[in-house]
Amino acid sequence: MLRVENVSVAYGRATAVREVSLTVNDGEIVTLIGSNGAGKTSLLNAVAGLVPVKSGAVWLDDILLSGLSLHQTARLGFGYVPEGRQLFGDMPVIDNLILGAYPKSARNRLSLLGYVGWFTRRADIRTNLESVYRLFPKLHERQSQKAGSLSGGEQQMLAIGRAMMCSPKILVLDEPSLGLAPNLVKEILQLLGRLREEGLTILLIEQDAVAALKIADRGYVMERGRIVLEGTAGELLGNDEVKHAYLGRALT
Ligand SMILES: Nc1ncnc2c1ncn2[C@@H]1O[C@H](COP(=O)(O)OP(=O)(O)OP(=O)(O)O)[C@@H](O)[C@H]1O
Ligand SMILES: [Mg+2]
Repeated sequence: MLRVENVSVAYGRATAVREVSLTVNDGEIVTLIGSNGAGKTSLLNAVAGLVPVKSGAVWLDDILLSGLSLHQTARLGFGYVPEGRQLFGDMPVIDNLILGAYPKSARNRLSLLGYVGWFTRRADIRTNLESVYRLFPKLHERQSQKAGSLSGGEQQMLAIGRAMMCSPKILVLDEPSLGLAPNLVKEILQLLGRLREEGLTILLIEQDAVAALKIADRGYVMERGRIVLEGTAGELLGNDEVKHAYLGRALT
């Protein structure tokens, strides 16, 4: 599904990500863990098209994503929920969702036409909106409310709902539980488990490494811009180095 090959990311002369390779297979939940400043967000931002990839390549199935913009990667099925949610706080919930919409038909026709008729588009947006509202009934109840006035948990649901509006092949989340109360963190992680059961593929950055590894199939550990360890969730949960560096807080 997703293949990241030797990707490096730099800000001016400072390299934040050094030749990172990782894969996410169809139907998997993969988690990327690492301490603050390790380069996790930089890597995902580069994969999504928010910052340039300095070298290396990113593939989504057989499509080369590296070099494309956020707008293009979204259209091709890369559903990104960025760090800090990045919602339009002054706009109603429904407008935030519609802005995330790149329907499947757009993807299918991209190479053929490069343009999608407004009516097809509108029908797809409505269908996707209905499925997001089924997933998050609260967003439906609050569809006219400004996004900025939602609670933290509701805002996170909106950020996930917005990414779901483009019928993603893969959902990629950068610390979805940041700032949320523990019961909400659990709720979000359970939701990701449900989405996977419905066939979605997921790549997750999560500060609570134990919670993430509990729902994940595999994980990667990133330090100072490099992947330093990878394995199944069970292997990482049982690894002494990982326990010491990332899981200590949860185990004591
Ligand atoms: N826009 C930017 N300009 C310059 N340097 C940046 C920029 N964004 C990130 N960095 C630097 O790149 C490095 C990696 O940061 P990044 O945000 O990718 O880490 P992270 O693993 O996501 O950390 P956290 O867990 O705190 O979110 C850090 O040293 C950071 O200061
Ligand atoms: Mg980050």
